[in-house]
Amino acid sequence: MSAWSARQRHQGSRIALVPTMGFLHDGHLALMKEAGRLADKVAISIFVNPTQFGPGEDFDTYPRNLDRDLDLAREAGVDAAFVPRTEDFYLQGFDTFIDQKKLPNHLCGLSRTGHFRGMMTIVAKLFNVVNPDMAVFGEKDFQQLAIIRRMVADLNFNIRIIGHPIVRESDGLAMSSRNTNLTPEQRKTALCLITALKTAQALMEKKEFHADILIHKAKTIITAHPDTSIDYIAICDPDTLEDIPFVDRPALMALAVTVGTTRLIDNIRLTPAQE
Ligand code: PAJ
Repeated sequence: MSAWSARQRHQGSRIALVPTMGFLHDGHLALMKEAGRLADKVAISIFVNPTQFGPGEDFDTYPRNLDRDLDLAREAGVDAAFVPRTEDFYLQGFDTFIDQKKLPNHLCGLSRTGHFRGMMTIVAKLFNVVNPDMAVFGEKDFQQLAIIRRMVADLNFNIRIIGHPIVRESDGLAMSSRNTNLTPEQRKTALCLITALKTAQALMEKKEFHADILIHKAKTIITAHPDTSIDYIAICDPDTLEDIPFVDRPALMALAVTVGTTRLIDNIRLTPAQE
C-alpha cells in the first residue's frame, strides 16, 4: 500500500483515502465518489478494527463480504483498496494507542468505553500507511469526525479532512452496515430515529428552543416502540459536543438507540432562524 501511494505521489497525483469497515453501502460509495471528485486517485481501506469494539459489542457479528465490497468499490472508481489482515496490522506486542480527553467524553463515548481510542489509533495507522493528501469521513459518525479533525490538528498530520453529509434510504433511515441485521419489523421501527429528530427540528422551527423539551419530545416518539432502548439523546455544541440547554445558536441533535439488538446512531442540525 505504501509503495503504491509513493508511486502516485511521485507522479504528482493527489490521493484521497476513505477508511471503512466494509460491507459497503451507498453512504460509503458516496464518500468514495466525493473523494474521486476532489483527488486524482482514491484509496479505500476495509478493516473491521478489533480495538474499537468493546467487550460484548458486535465485532464477531459485524457483517463482512469482501468480494462484493471490492466489486462495488471498483464500480465507484476506487483505484486501490487496502485490506490488511489483523495479525499483520496489529503486530505481536502492539502497545501504542492514541487518545483524547474531551471530545470522547460525550455522546457515544460515554457508553462505548475505549471505542474512540481504538478508532483514533487505527485511523492514525491508516494515515501513516496510505499517506493521503486528504481523507473523507461521513457526518453520520459526527463525533468520530470531530475527534479526527482534532487529532489531525493536534498531531500535525498534513491531511485535509473532508466531512460528507449523511446518506439516507428513501424513507429517511440513515444508511449503515448494521441495518442489515434488522428484521423487517425492526427495519420499520428504526425509522423512529429520524422521525424523532425531524419532529424535534420542526418544534425548534416553531420557536421551542428548550433542549429538555425537544429531547423529551424525541424520547416519547422512540419509547412508543417496545423493541427500542435509548442510549442517549443529546443537543450539543457541534464543535465541543457539550450539552446546550437552549438552542439560540446552531446545534447538533444526536441520538443512539438500540433496535432489537442493533445499536443505531443518527443526528440532525438544529439551526435557529436569524431574526
Ligand atoms: P464505517 O462504519 O464502515 O464507516 C466508514 C465511513 O463511512 C465513515 O466515515 C462513516 O461516517 C461513513 N458513513 C457510514 N454510513 C454513512 C452514511 N449513511 N452517510 C454518510 N457517511 C456514512 O466509521 C468507520 O467505519 C470506522 O470507525 C473507521 C473510520 C473506518 C475506523 O475503523
